[in-house]
Amino acid sequence: MKRIATAMIVLGASAALALSGCAGGERGGTGAPAGSQPAASGGLNGNQLTLGSGFAAGSKIGVSLPQKTSENWVLAEGLFTDQLKAAGFDPVVQFANGGAPEQQNQISAMIEQGVKLLVVGAVDGSQLGSQLAAAKQAGIPVIAYDRLLMNTDAVDMYMAYDNFKVGVLQGTALLEGLGKTAKKSPWNIELISGSPNDANSKPFFEGAMSVLQPKIDDGTLKVVSGQVTQQQTATADWKAENAQKRMDAILSANYQGDTSLDGILSPNDTLARAALTSVKSAGKPNPVITGQDSEVESVKLVFQGVQYSTIDKDTKTFVTKVVEYIGKIAQGQPVEVNDVKSYNNGVKVVPAYLLTPVIVTKDNVCTQYAPDTAAGKAAATVCGK
Ligand code: BGC
Repeated sequence: MKRIATAMIVLGASAALALSGCAGGERGGTGAPAGSQPAASGGLNGNQLTLGSGFAAGSKIGVSLPQKTSENWVLAEGLFTDQLKAAGFDPVVQFANGGAPEQQNQISAMIEQGVKLLVVGAVDGSQLGSQLAAAKQAGIPVIAYDRLLMNTDAVDMYMAYDNFKVGVLQGTALLEGLGKTAKKSPWNIELISGSPNDANSKPFFEGAMSVLQPKIDDGTLKVVSGQVTQQQTATADWKAENAQKRMDAILSANYQGDTSLDGILSPNDTLARAALTSVKSAGKPNPVITGQDSEVESVKLVFQGVQYSTIDKDTKTFVTKVVEYIGKIAQGQPVEVNDVKSYNNGVKVVPAYLLTPVIVTKDNVCTQYAPDTAAGKAAATVCGK
């Protein structure tokens, strides 16, 4: 990953953008033998992946989701339930609000109940090893949903929006937004990253830094707090209050007087709004700030120019794709993957199907969203459609 990241920095932001969908970097953990191939157990043939030999119509499908740390998870619950029913399955959809131990119990219970396939959006991708091993033992295919499952060979496939690309889009938007402000560079910025137990936090941050690091190095950007690593910028459990507390501390230690805070890299909308609250209570002007998820409140803020950008990772499109794949898997048919290199989970490279995230700013907030989505409805209200 280091080598790839360096190569991307050398190639520059636009090339990184072009490459991010297909580059051979590792987005997951480290530790799998170099050059290890996706496990043959799932039956990968070119870009066609076969997961098991099928199961009956009407079978139970387990969907285990993490805490409701952003609106996308809440939307996913209803969409999975409705769409799996419409496809003739018997859905068991549950959240793990209590964290990793609750999710462990939940998955064990789903296996007990006889689910024929598991979809897992992990609280902590490294904490489900024995439950996933039990699923594998029982011949239950496992799809990692949105977040990679780490350090296990008992995951057949990963489905997600391209996480590294999300980060590249965020870094690019931050730079672009700063370029539109009245102030000339150098710009003072701060960085926020996601929860360390979510495997996505790393590619989000590395994608963004592939764009921002060269600009920090050449003096265009200055991280005034000096907090520049994923660890230093992390937000435990993706909690708004944790991001807000950290930003409060940074502001009072580094931004007294007329030191301006010009921009903030935020990995998602919930944390962007938390950071904006902090900046406001410090009496500072509104900075350029990024986000992700197209949450209703943030769609409105993007329209108003308060939050510079968000990202459209439409949950409906995503869940529809997963349910389509479950239908094929039930019939013993192969499904298509489009990335067999990037997601090394520490034990194997997990074949992935990645969807394409789209940046949303004031320029496209009124036209980007499908009208029948939560974001589309929020946009319709503010855009006066
Ligand atoms: C998802 C993001 C979300 C975050 C917090 C990540 O795994 O990919 O869309 O903002 O979790 O819920």
